[in-house]
Amino acid sequence: MDLPFAESFKIKMVEPLRRSTKEERAQWIKDAKFNLFNLKSDHVFIDLLTDSGTGAMSDRQWSAMMVGDESYAGARSYYNMKNAIKDILGFDHFLPTHQGRAAENVLFSVMVKEGDIVPGNSHFDTTKGHIEFRKAKAIDCTIDEAFDTTINHPFKGNICPEKLEAVLKQYPKEKIPFIIVTVTNNTAGGQPVSLENIREISALAKRYDIPLMFDSARFAENAYFIKIREEGCADKSIKQIVKEMYEHADFMTMSSKKDAIVNIGGFIGFKHEEIYKQACTFNIMFEGYVTYGGLAGRDMNALAVGLDEGTEFDYLETRIKQVEYLGARLKEYGVPFQTPVGGHAIFVDAKKFLPNVPKEEYIAQTLGVEIYVEGGVRGVEIGSILADRDPETRENRYPDLELLRLTIPRRVYTNNHMDYIAATLKNVFDRRDQITSGFKIVTEAPIMRHFTVELEKI
Ligand SMILES: Cc1ncc(COP(=O)(O)O)c(C=O)c1O
Repeated sequence: MDLPFAESFKIKMVEPLRRSTKEERAQWIKDAKFNLFNLKSDHVFIDLLTDSGTGAMSDRQWSAMMVGDESYAGARSYYNMKNAIKDILGFDHFLPTHQGRAAENVLFSVMVKEGDIVPGNSHFDTTKGHIEFRKAKAIDCTIDEAFDTTINHPFKGNICPEKLEAVLKQYPKEKIPFIIVTVTNNTAGGQPVSLENIREISALAKRYDIPLMFDSARFAENAYFIKIREEGCADKSIKQIVKEMYEHADFMTMSSKKDAIVNIGGFIGFKHEEIYKQACTFNIMFEGYVTYGGLAGRDMNALAVGLDEGTEFDYLETRIKQVEYLGARLKEYGVPFQTPVGGHAIFVDAKKFLPNVPKEEYIAQTLGVEIYVEGGVRGVEIGSILADRDPETRENRYPDLELLRLTIPRRVYTNNHMDYIAATLKNVFDRRDQITSGFKIVTEAPIMRHFTVELEKI
């Protein structure tokens, strides 16, 4: 018989999980003002809030931590990171930062001004936040297929060249500091961008003389999908594909808490020395000296090893097959989700799951609360609470998709956990007709409200 697929790691250290009752969870989420971010992690059984910084490091990473060089300036660990970034991504210049949004803050401080326009594919919330905070505007040019969860397109993260070109024609080039390519496209469902699309967007950017910036949190997962799904790429290694992707990048921002499999860390990659030099000043102000940028030497060492491990095929296959496994279970139960499944998460289509909850009552948040109470599984809303208010009109923005993201941490849970998650969703799905109302907002922050919003049941 054919041997079945099995994970490419074995487990050396474990952490206990605590079970709780439905009654306890109903009280805890009420105390948390129905904001899943407010829950204590001890009150969560399976935590799918994020894959950011929640992965399990390898024995190689832990041993690299032990030999971290904690010198303030010029540490060996900085050079380990520098070499890994040069070898794997091809950038001559880089700045370490404490995480992805810090990289955005530093780079955008140099490049984004009031009134600027930043086109891209479904800008991530912190990215958009940093653009709007500077009174600039993010324009989403993702292909239309991304907004229909039932369409089976292999590269739903792609940028639509026609939409992008319309923006490039409408605004003078001085107003467009760069185009953002988010790999994978998190907000659209962890959906990849094809190499062909990257080449096409790069050619367009060159024609209009505008730089390309890669928001790179899940660049390795993106490369895995290129290898598996794109014609002519099957025989290339992940590292070769990554090289080809990044030939087109002028800059990158990286949240290393994802595809570099570390608990904290980030960086900016620069092909242009002049912009790098300007960014150094902001890095020193906001993050730390240019050779540590808010990271300990040991963190930089673990990050350097993580970049190498995270771009190995066996690791990526294990990771993405687990997400696909959960998708297959949910499909059996008829649960609607963004297809094909993305790299790091299942994005449940909350509008289809809970058709009786009005959009003004935050459908995906309602689903998130139901699933937490049902099984102690914590997901995260990617819907109208996250979409926030229009910065000019202050009206609520209602995105086309209301999604509940079930994000799978790297090398953390087993497929038994995946079965448990699927059963939790099935139980809520079976009683979906009885769920007819959601929540109203009681208090919210003026920007990035989803982290701190407080809600009341309607
Ligand atoms: C695509 C993308 N960009 C940027 C970020 C921000 O990174 P961080 O959370 O490390 O600040 C994230 C985090 O989830 C992300 O998914």
